[in-house]
Amino acid sequence: MSDAMVTLLQDWLKAEDDTIEMTNKISATTTNETIRLFMLIVRADSVKHRQIQQFLLDAMTKQAPAISLEEIADISEMINEHLALEQKTVDLGKSLVGQNKLPILKELMQYLLDDEEKHVRLLQSLAAMKEYVHKNT
Ligand SMILES: [Fe+2]
Repeated sequence: MSDAMVTLLQDWLKAEDDTIEMTNKISATTTNETIRLFMLIVRADSVKHRQIQQFLLDAMTKQAPAISLEEIADISEMINEHLALEQKTVDLGKSLVGQNKLPILKELMQYLLDDEEKHVRLLQSLAAMKEYVHKNT
């Protein structure tokens, strides 16, 4: 991994800290429940982003991550089961978003739906790794 990429990732991580600080500041300035919820969402996401960025940094500078055939096999059935559950949440989210006219509610439901779609993608990607591990062992 190039040093330039590592530097970019470190900058990203620092920027994430700044956004967390900003959510605290905005939340402390308002008593509006909706604004505070929006800030809570961004803050929680940013904390999660930090964890992912730290994992990426370690993966790029220490040891590349790997998943063994056995580790995939252990959870293979559960991944499929989980995928079906996430798909259900996507379907429910889509019905609700489609019916909602109130902007704040629609935005929050869309936010959830986007997340659920990301969960489906993550699980599909894990399932695809299973195929990849099978082919390469
Ligand atoms: Fe989900």
